[in-house]
Amino acid sequence: MYIFKDFYHNTVELSFEKHPFSANPKHVWVISRYNDQWLLTDHQRRGYEFPGGKVEEGETPEEAAKREVLEETGGIVSKINYLGQYRVTGRDKIIIKNIYFAEIGELLTQNHYFETNGPVLINEFPPNIKKDRRYSFIMRDEVFSHSLNYLKSSVLDA
Ligand code: GTP
Repeated sequence: MYIFKDFYHNTVELSFEKHPFSANPKHVWVISRYNDQWLLTDHQRRGYEFPGGKVEEGETPEEAAKREVLEETGGIVSKINYLGQYRVTGRDKIIIKNIYFAEIGELLTQNHYFETNGPVLINEFPPNIKKDRRYSFIMRDEVFSHSLNYLKSSVLDA
């Protein structure tokens, strides 16, 4: 379990165990790869981030993950794996988010991308991403670095 503060000084608890905080989390975040590149979305307020959002009524978290990828990037998920989960404790709200790793088989051009400007493909992240204001705050805390390290030590090298 990792515990740290996020960009807004909220406490974040992160684990790569199976559902440590909730079996039915209401948020998802999807680390996405398309053609050997990272697939992000350009959120209109927050900047570049991996696609994600809220689980809707009647949806499983994994279904939400696939829907969010499609809505925010046009990506069709061909493979998806649960990676971990984190809990953010804010002043008046606690959110629990599942982290997935998804491979994207196809990138469709959409007419609109919900709250985002659509897909952004990245070869490598800047080493100073924590200070890079083009990136969303959700990409600028340790959830991102731990998740990437975990991925590299597990799925990506498998
Ligand atoms: P909208 O996203 O505009 O619908 O507003 P909301 O306030 O309902 O957002 P949400 O429930 O998604 O998140 C509530 C608060 O949790 C946000 O203002 C953030 O402070 C925090 N939060 C949400 N997602 C993340 C995340 O991935 N990482 C971190 N560190 N904080 C998050």
